[in-house]
Amino acid sequence: MLAAALLHVRVAYSQPAMAVRRRSCCLLLLLACSSCFQGATGIYDAAISQCQQLAPSPSLEKFVDKLPRPKVIRISNAKQITIGAFKIQQKLHRDLPPTTLYAYGTNSDTASYPGPRIEVIQNVPSNIRWENHITDGKHMLANDESLMWANPQSGGIPIVTHLHGAEVHSSSDGHPDAWFTAGGSHGSTYTTQNYTYPNAQPATMLWYHDHAFGITRLNVLAGLAGLYIIRSKEDPPAWMPTGKFEVQLVVQDKQFFFNGSINFPNVGDSPALHPQWCPEYFGDTVLVNGKAWPYLEVKPQMYRFRILNAANARVFELSMDNLSFTQIGTDQELLEKPQSLKTLTIAPGERVDCIVDFSTAANSEVILRNDGQAPYPEGDPAFSPESTRSVMKFIISKANSSTQTQAAPVPATLREPQSLVSSQNAKEWRRNFMFEMDDSEGNPMSSLLSNLTWMDPVTETPHQGAIEVWEFINLTPDAHPMHIHLVHFRMLSQQEFNLTLWREGACQLNDSSCFLGAPSPALAHQVGPKDTILAMPNYVTRVVMQWTAHNGGAFGFDVSSGPGYLWHCHILDHEDNDMMRPIRVVADVVRPSAMVSMGARRQLSGALRLSFLLLLVLFS
Ligand SMILES: *[C@@H]1O[C@H](CO)[C@@H](O)[C@H](O)[C@H]1NC(C)=O
Ligand SMILES: *[C@@H]1O[C@H](CO)[C@@H](O)[C@H](O)[C@H]1NC(C)=O
Ligand SMILES: *[C@@H]1O[C@H](CO)[C@@H](O)[C@H](O)[C@H]1NC(C)=O
Ligand SMILES: *[C@@H]1O[C@H](CO)[C@@H](O)[C@H](O)[C@H]1NC(C)=O
Ligand SMILES: *[C@@H]1O[C@H](CO)[C@@H](O)[C@H](O)[C@H]1NC(C)=O
Ligand SMILES: *[C@@H]1O[C@H](CO)[C@@H](O)[C@H](O)[C@H]1NC(C)=O
Ligand SMILES: *[C@@H]1O[C@H](CO)[C@@H](O)[C@H](O)[C@H]1NC(C)=O
Repeated sequence: MLAAALLHVRVAYSQPAMAVRRRSCCLLLLLACSSCFQGATGIYDAAISQCQQLAPSPSLEKFVDKLPRPKVIRISNAKQITIGAFKIQQKLHRDLPPTTLYAYGTNSDTASYPGPRIEVIQNVPSNIRWENHITDGKHMLANDESLMWANPQSGGIPIVTHLHGAEVHSSSDGHPDAWFTAGGSHGSTYTTQNYTYPNAQPATMLWYHDHAFGITRLNVLAGLAGLYIIRSKEDPPAWMPTGKFEVQLVVQDKQFFFNGSINFPNVGDSPALHPQWCPEYFGDTVLVNGKAWPYLEVKPQMYRFRILNAANARVFELSMDNLSFTQIGTDQELLEKPQSLKTLTIAPGERVDCIVDFSTAANSEVILRNDGQAPYPEGDPAFSPESTRSVMKFIISKANSSTQTQAAPVPATLREPQSLVSSQNAKEWRRNFMFEMDDSEGNPMSSLLSNLTWMDPVTETPHQGAIEVWEFINLTPDAHPMHIHLVHFRMLSQQEFNLTLWREGACQLNDSSCFLGAPSPALAHQVGPKDTILAMPNYVTRVVMQWTAHNGGAFGFDVSSGPGYLWHCHILDHEDNDMMRPIRVVADVVRPSAMVSMGARRQLSGALRLSFLLLLVLFS
């Protein structure tokens, strides 16, 4: 079934002692893209891929900088505020010269990486005018112009800001083609840079970042990312640590030159096709809130940590010796029940809300460690050096009875049980295949969703109100964090299949013939309402969502108008090379008849079992 025509790209460069290729067994597909071959001119004869061979960053002493807390912009009314993107210099480590960055802020003096933390109030719309003050003619990081990208005719750096996880009209969603430059050029779907966010969704931590077509990986790595917190009367609840005991952590990896500049590859794995593009960018230096391996002094008591993985491609598996995390929330809201985890697995785009109780670790130091392999999950030693094994350090003060507040325990129930959308009533069951196109050397050239590019006509056209199940069928060797704009979803199940058998055309993924076992429910770190989910290789990952507002009702705006929405892999290097597809929501309303009251636990497991049954029936 798989038209596995081997692609023999004329690789025009000689291959001296190159790094061992990452993948031995790959899907070799025919890439029907004649323009892609025009690059094979032989000018890369001497070019050696830098994807796995970036010069190491200067060796920096860890835990010498205090964890920065970005400035806060509080928005409590509809008055418009302006946030611009500026080119700045910022010190990212005590011993590293200042780094040139692109950063958000209200002016060039206060712009910072990460950007200011925006705090808004639930149901109070915020109006933000986004401006572009980056006047560079060319991007400071190697921009591969062989990819489809914004490509402003008169030069400049295109930007457009997406509020990740927001329920928002598509003209304020930061559509990739709605980019604009400092010089006034703009993309095909640009209508305004005055965005309105209704904030009519549960209290949570979203994040804003650049989403410009084909250069998102460069703009985000350059610094265009910040946090956006929706507060409500119920959040934070009385028991929860607040004020300085609520700490946001924005985690990213980067690699540096000795002069402090970001080191980004400028020769790709497949330079005949894509001169600069690399399948994933991994840096050897871990930054939190814009400092390399910072430390934070804490009291021996409970803290709330809200963690964002803002990396291009690195999945973090966070842990601490002798301490655990009590996860209380996920991408989109609080969990119903807390769960104690030794390890937090967090992929690019995902957020985790958790409590850490330092009271058992008074007068000690604890390292926040990372055991995630890169690429995830198998890993390549080139991308997982020892330096990436630690993230930051907590220095816990001595117990002091005069100052220590009695830690209230985390309640057993965090919020009222909610109605869950049931897959039984799914109007649409979408099977999305995730491909990797490789050259004859086994180097990935692009990653595609259902073998379609961003430019292909829209195929995901959910009806407003409809319940849908989406399957992410991962045929690649790596895990992909899949992000869907506008709505939230829940993971329904994941199920392993025999890729070898499938590749031989000996089985199907729309019946039970390929699967290696029964569908299994979401793992601990995958529960709850999410907007980004890590789809593992050789697995079908199923999510269920309803195309309604978060509260199950109608959207507070015309969801079918404007440039529309999208879904994509949140590995930014994949998103930029075609692992991104449009979504158009169709206006006619399908009655949301399918809400299943989950008040009773019994009903929940019954409904889930039923959906699995339905699945098996469908497939037999
Ligand atoms: C992917 O698309 C190309 C061109 O559209 C086609 O030639 C190829 O057979 C497709 N591959 C698969 C696996 O469907
Ligand atoms: C956007 O906001 C600016 C600044 O407030 C204002 O001058 C402009 O008219 C607004 N544009 C639109 C299209 O609303
Ligand atoms: C920093 O060093 C790199 C590598 O030597 C060089 O390519 C780059 O131009 C330098 N950047 C600046 C701002 O000097
Ligand atoms: C963990 O706790 C044990 C027992 O209290 C202690 O002996 C050990 O040193 C701790 N490990 C670390 C890394 O702090
Ligand atoms: C306890 O905290 C108070 C207030 O911060 C401080 O004055 C005092 O010295 C501390 N005591 C000890 C034993 O650290
Ligand atoms: C997958 O299928 C191949 C080819 O039939 C077979 O050799 C292999 O044992 C299967 N793998 C598993 C885990 O069942
Ligand atoms: C599964 O897909 C194949 C083609 O890929 C098709 O022929 C078959 O009818 C499908 N089966 C079901 C149950 O949808």
